[in-house]
Amino acid sequence: MLDPNITYLNHGSFGACPKPIFKSLIRWHRKLEKEPVRHLAFDLYNFLQDSRFSLAEYINCDADDLAFFPNPSTALNTVLRSINFKTDDEVLSTNHEYGAMDRAWDFMSKKKGIKYIKRNIQLPIESKEVFINDFIKGITDKTKVIFLSQITSATALVFPVKEICDYARKKNIITIIDGAHVPGHIELDIMQINPDFYSGACHKWMCSPKGVAFLYANKKMQNIIEPLVISWGYDAEKPSHSQFLDYLQWQGTNDMSAYLTIPDTIKFLKERNWREVSEKCKELNIWAKEKIISELKVKGLSDNKFNAKQMSSFFMHFDDVFNNQLDFYKKYKIQIPFFKWNEETLFRISIQAYNSKKDIDMLIDSFKKFKNIN
Ligand SMILES: Cc1ncc(COP(=O)(O)O)c(C=O)c1O
Repeated sequence: MLDPNITYLNHGSFGACPKPIFKSLIRWHRKLEKEPVRHLAFDLYNFLQDSRFSLAEYINCDADDLAFFPNPSTALNTVLRSINFKTDDEVLSTNHEYGAMDRAWDFMSKKKGIKYIKRNIQLPIESKEVFINDFIKGITDKTKVIFLSQITSATALVFPVKEICDYARKKNIITIIDGAHVPGHIELDIMQINPDFYSGACHKWMCSPKGVAFLYANKKMQNIIEPLVISWGYDAEKPSHSQFLDYLQWQGTNDMSAYLTIPDTIKFLKERNWREVSEKCKELNIWAKEKIISELKVKGLSDNKFNAKQMSSFFMHFDDVFNNQLDFYKKYKIQIPFFKWNEETLFRISIQAYNSKKDIDMLIDSFKKFKNIN
């Protein structure tokens, strides 16, 4: 449904929803509006269960360890507000995390007196071993939590979260993985990573309607989870088999139609052979990266081994990322994000099924004009 007059290279922020999935959303909206009480009071939990089963199979975990949320921010805030922190506890993270999550941890630091430690990850990443050895040097006897993105947002890198979770487990450190960009992008196998908590968005690379994300919580950690909103599932009159689900599935009246499209979303991805589509996008991403580096004389952030499969970021100077991005969009009708990242500024491309070499050529030509590059 994307506007054909816009070159859309920002699936990573807010991607496009394919028409068949959008139609599924409308079907669920209609079902709700046809008989709201039946839908919300009688049938909803069964529908949610179908969606959880479908997602659990797709990302390999138990359906009862998953709850839907409108976005990863809400899912992850639920976790960090639930942990029983003591003053001076440490949260070990990196300087590549998503700005909204940095803010959530800064808030927790002020509120609870904990320390949010953003370890500097050397670029380019040399090897998994160097990353892991360097990162774990940040662990102290006060480290209570490790918080790590599996695919970073502004820098578009893939971090070795499985190995970090394995290490943390031996040290009794809680692991919270921010996988917002992972489902539908790179293979996600939750059981293999075996984190304590993991959140992913379905409305990015799985192409579901906006407002679908999940929280996975390892069974042994589910009892610590408190809902951000206390509602009927707290001290429930008819508790289900799972306090985790009772607390999280109903947080007040809400239209959960987008959650219920997940079986149709996954059916779409399977029927359209999305793994192959993603491989083609990866090839285009690698081609685009090389061409952008050589024609715009900019630097990338890593070699292809640690690069996200369908996104790449580049260093480029911008005086004011927000206004420059808007200006670039207005002039050239290209949708692409500019970021301020630590002391640097970056831009990022995202490659999805609807992108082609023409989009990259258009981007390069437009940047040459915008930045006076010969
Ligand atoms: C790494 C990362 N974490 C979390 C999020 C979630 O943001 P939101 O909850 O606003 O959708 C994003 C969104 O782009 C992200 O890239």
